[in-house]
Amino acid sequence: MSSVTMPQPRTDLIAAAARVIPGGANSCRRVVDPPLAFAEAAGAYLIDPQGRRYIDYHAGYGAILLGHGYPAIADAVGQALRRWDLCSVGATPGEVALAEKLVEHVPSAEQTLLCASGSEATYHAVRLARAATGRAGVVKYQGSYHGFHDAVLPNRLTTAGVGGFDPDLSLGTTDAVTAQTCVLEFNDSLATDEVLSRRDIAAVIVEPVAHNPPSLMPKDGFLGRLRESCDRYGTVLIFDEVITGFRHGLGGYQAIAGVTPDLTTLAKSMANGLHIGALVGRRDLMEHFNTRTDGDVFYSGTCNGNAVAVAAALTTIATLESEPVHEHIFALGERMRAGLRELVVAEDLDACVCGFGSVYVLLFAAPPMVSNADALRNDRELFLAFKAELLRRGVFEMPAVNALRSHLTYAHTEAQVDETLAAAAEAVRALRPERAHGSR
Ligand SMILES: Cc1ncc(COP(=O)(O)O)c(C=O)c1O
Repeated sequence: MSSVTMPQPRTDLIAAAARVIPGGANSCRRVVDPPLAFAEAAGAYLIDPQGRRYIDYHAGYGAILLGHGYPAIADAVGQALRRWDLCSVGATPGEVALAEKLVEHVPSAEQTLLCASGSEATYHAVRLARAATGRAGVVKYQGSYHGFHDAVLPNRLTTAGVGGFDPDLSLGTTDAVTAQTCVLEFNDSLATDEVLSRRDIAAVIVEPVAHNPPSLMPKDGFLGRLRESCDRYGTVLIFDEVITGFRHGLGGYQAIAGVTPDLTTLAKSMANGLHIGALVGRRDLMEHFNTRTDGDVFYSGTCNGNAVAVAAALTTIATLESEPVHEHIFALGERMRAGLRELVVAEDLDACVCGFGSVYVLLFAAPPMVSNADALRNDRELFLAFKAELLRRGVFEMPAVNALRSHLTYAHTEAQVDETLAAAAEAVRALRPERAHGSR
């Protein structure tokens, strides 16, 4: 049996990538200026081609929950590959076990379907809502990202307001689809109720904690009022828990908020960063899919339920069930946010600290931070300069203004958080040399 050696770190990685991959990255959301690339990931660290180590708080856009290269996942994936890599007929034992776990833990999950990414899950959710209601309209919230497809792309990070220029809206999308999407401000229950009262909206899709704008908390009662409005006007309520699912709790944020949507989309940390997505929800809705012979909504995917992703998801869930993962990452999140808040006060910064659980962000804008309009007040130049200073000190937070939040994992330690807080204090002082000399 011949063995293949995996590609080794190479110092010309960035230049070589640019020659054969447009822009040198496999996602527009991985491109940063100046370009960066890492050669290895281990535990809480990313390692660059020169062998330098950085504490990683990007954590694969939040998909890495247990840490990079988590040994139990590597073992489970190897075993599963040897047993049933992809059968593509009916369902394997792993797929059934995973569906049972989702039904057990996620309040809205009466039935489940697997796919390969968060975008696929939100795509199927929107299509299902349209089919079930016979309506076309979709409501989403300003600044939220729900994946790359046309129905949910409009108005991410729009600076000119609803209907204005949208840097993320792509050529090649069709107006017929994007015009059906109505974008409202997160936390605006009144506007949502008013739009739903037209009774032409199939679905409201919402990140229950809006981590993309970033990390806007739902106001008291906002999610409950959404539930009531959707019930009143026959609209399907979709919680996009691609970030919040598993990261905030085994039952997602819906279990914390006590509000149950009709459909839920999951991905990212469900399999600790491996390629998985899931759409779960009410049985009467899920039974529309033509995985049943009498279903009227198309559903397919060659790699759905493949052994690698399923084994990673089962192992992630088993670890969350048996180890104090949430206790650990929530405590680290609190430590990080408290430390950053102290820094804001000590340095008299026009800034605020947001986040929940294991997610945090220091924004260079004064509070309050409740809407995307607030998030857009972030001083982007200062934010990027701060990230660059952190990088010089061995701390990696994504240096991009469309990926603001940072994430803690089970692999991070208190000592690393304290090291990061010290680096953050140095970074702030480096950006404000006049204060370092006491001349305010
Ligand atoms: C809330 C949310 N939904 C959906 C998606 C799309 O997921 P994926 O990148 O796996 O397609 C993302 C990705 O960042 C996300 O943050």
